[in-house]
This record gives sequence, structure tokens and C-alpha cells, in this order.
Amino acid sequence: MTETAAKLRNKVAVITGGSSGIGLATAQLFAEQGARVAITGRNQAALDQAVAQIGHGALAVAGDVANVADLDRLFATVHQQLGAVDVLIVNAASYVLAPLADFTESMFDRVSNVNFKGTFFTVQKALPYLRDGASVVLTSSTVAEKGVPNHAAYAATKAATRSLARSFSAELLPRRIRVNVLTPGPVDTPVFESVTASKEEAEAAKAGMGQFAPVKRVATAREIAQASLYLATDDSSFMLGSELLIDGGIRTL
Ligand SMILES: NC(=O)c1ccc[n+]([C@@H]2O[C@H](COP(=O)([O-])OP(=O)(O)OC[C@H]3O[C@@H](n4cnc5c(N)ncnc54)[C@H](OP(=O)(O)O)[C@@H]3O)[C@@H](O)[C@H]2O)c1
Repeated sequence: MTETAAKLRNKVAVITGGSSGIGLATAQLFAEQGARVAITGRNQAALDQAVAQIGHGALAVAGDVANVADLDRLFATVHQQLGAVDVLIVNAASYVLAPLADFTESMFDRVSNVNFKGTFFTVQKALPYLRDGASVVLTSSTVAEKGVPNHAAYAATKAATRSLARSFSAELLPRRIRVNVLTPGPVDTPVFESVTASKEEAEAAKAGMGQFAPVKRVATAREIAQASLYLATDDSSFMLGSELLIDGGIRTL
């Protein structure tokens, strides 16, 4: 990538959940495009590994997005080390699946606290550090608008995310901060291993999801990162409070 072609040259981008899957692919792409990237996640070893993969002086700040004190520390550290934030990708999420009858209160609290509360306060805590004209991208999922067994609580948090983008975007209009939603269908990431008992089961779950999509495959994390890059830059300057659907045709066909 030549310096002149870089779409995020000298921009500061914060990506929550940047140590794995879509977040990691997005951090890699943004760094290739000239951004100074900061990532978060709870696991320090995973963050260290991700920073080595991303290169380009990426910064990792360990923390839990469900903990508002961690979010304060994240943005203060990013501001101190990299400066004001141009792009915020709210990507960290917890994928907690179970039948309605078996869903416990602690499962409900976990998925709500990370995906709904975490998204809300990630944006709130970023506000003092976001540059006017910044781009904020929230991450939803196609299941937000579909009835899928075992997904009730997770899907509801992703529907809440879609709603937050509308309200945030309206409120932040005077600062020209655009808030949009990226809505992926099934994507090839380690998340499948976190909800299955073995690698084989994870591969089978992924293959099943792929067959569910009209395009007959799951997305690569890089394909989702490319969509995130569009939302992050002025290429999408006429888009606000809106949604970019990257789902292999699931919702529409
Ligand atoms: N993969 C899919 O098929 C798919 C489809 C639609 C939407 N999505 C959405 O896309 C986003 C990324 O998914 P993915 O598949 O790439 O997930 P992933 O590979 O499991 O990565 C999740 C990332 O979030 C971090 N994270 C999780 N809980 C966190 C917390 N409480 N605080 C801070 N960081 C936390 C993880 O790091 P630690 O565990 O170390 O904290 C990791 O870096 C999520 O919002 C997900 O809902 C994914």
C-alpha cells in the first residue's frame, strides 16, 4: 500500500475486541491503510499475539467493555498515546446461546452486559476523545431481524445495537459524528469454537451456517473488514444512522 493510496493515513482507530476474528481482521486492514490502531480485549496473551500480527505500532489496552472503569482507562490511554480518535469500531461481543427454557440469569446478564451495556458505554466513554467528524461503527448481526432458536437474548442485544446507532447518530449530528451499523451474516471466526465442544463441531456448525446463506458459504473476516473500512472513511460520508448488510443474501433472498 503506497502512502498516497492509504485510506486512513494518520487516523487513529479504536477497535474493541480487536484480538480475534472480525476485529483482528479490521485492525490489520486499517493498519495497512495507514491508521494508528488501538485494540481491546480481556485476554492479554491474545492481545500480545494480535499486536504482533497487526504490526505498524498497534497499541493494545486490556479491559472488559462491560466495565465502565475499564472503558474510561481505555480511552484515556489511547488519547495519551495516540491522540484524538477518528474511528471507533464497537465490535466486542459475547455469543451466549441456549434454549429459552435453559437460559440462566447469569447468561442473560453476561450477554446483555457485554453486547448492550458495553456498546452503549463504549460510545459514551469515547465522546470526550472523539474528533468532530469521526466515524463510529456498531456491530450487529443478521439474527437481529430473524427468529433463530437459541439466539433470543443475543439477537435482542444486536437489535438494541441497531437502535442505538439511530439515536446516537441523531444526538451526535452537531459534532458531525456519524454512527452506522455493520451487520454481518455468518463469518469464519474463532467464535464457532467458543460455542461448540470441539474443532470438528465448530467446522460442522460453520458449514451448516454457510448452507443457510443463499451464497452457500460463510464470509471471511476480511470481507467484513472491507465493509468496515467503507464505513470508517469519508467514502460513506452520506450514510448516517444507517446499516450496511453483508450477509450473503440471508435477509433479502
Ligand atoms: N462470527 C460471526 O459469524 C458473526 C456474525 C454476525 C455478527 N458478528 C459480530 O461480530 C463481532 C465480532 O465477532 P467475531 O466472530 O469476530 O468474535 P470473536 O472471534 O469471538 O472475537 C471476539 C472479540 O471480542 C473480545 N471480547 C469478548 N468479550 C469482551 C469483553 N467483555 N470485553 C472486551 N473484549 C471482549 C474478544 O477478546 P477476549 O475474549 O480476550 O475478551 C475478541 O477479541 C461481534 O460483535 C459479533 O456479535 C459475528
